[in-house]
Amino acid sequence: MVIVAIGTGDPYTGRFEWSDWTFRGEHMRETPRDILIEVMEDVIEDLHGHVHRVSDLSVDLGTGIGLGGDDLDRLALAGVLHDVGKIHLDPGILGKPGPLNEEEFELMRRHPEMGFAMTRNRLEPKVAEAILYHHERYDGGGYPFGLEADNIPILSRIVLVADAFDAMTSVRAYQPALPVEYAVDEIRTNAGTQFDPTVVDIFLELASVDRLPLELIA
Ligand SMILES: [Fe+2]
Ligand SMILES: [Fe+2]
Repeated sequence: MVIVAIGTGDPYTGRFEWSDWTFRGEHMRETPRDILIEVMEDVIEDLHGHVHRVSDLSVDLGTGIGLGGDDLDRLALAGVLHDVGKIHLDPGILGKPGPLNEEEFELMRRHPEMGFAMTRNRLEPKVAEAILYHHERYDGGGYPFGLEADNIPILSRIVLVADAFDAMTSVRAYQPALPVEYAVDEIRTNAGTQFDPTVVDIFLELASVDRLPLELIA
């Protein structure tokens, strides 16, 4: 088994102290893909935990819609890598506590394409496409292309709902966690505009039986 050292110092200045290092040998996830995901979470603080909850909820939504096993595997991976393109963004934008200005927002909006560029030659096309279209809205008002309804791949329509729910209910640099009831209501209200109504139906079923993954907030 490979032992990987994870630093807790500042990754941008490289100021690591040996005393800060912990060894994760016992809990080591063994595939290079998992190591990459951990590195992504370390670089982009807001993604800690988020990507796994989005992945889990996406798989549950996909199951509810009746997708097959291969698509559920693709959803699990697209869920965990949907924001991987943010690795290219300036840490000052990623960790900004307030709203982004226009220029910063434009850069932020490029992360789906950056994620696609990173994954298209490494992963199945359906996974890379799910990443590319994960900010497209059902009514055509999303980005990067303004695709509409069924023209948006189903995997992306699913990740969008899971992502929106988790973004609202977890602590982000720019906002505290919002109440679950508020987030569920937002998703219900935006069915048919932002979100695919069929996906929202399954989401509301999961909400009604307390099956939504939540960040544990101390
Ligand atoms: Fe995103
Ligand atoms: Fe996200």
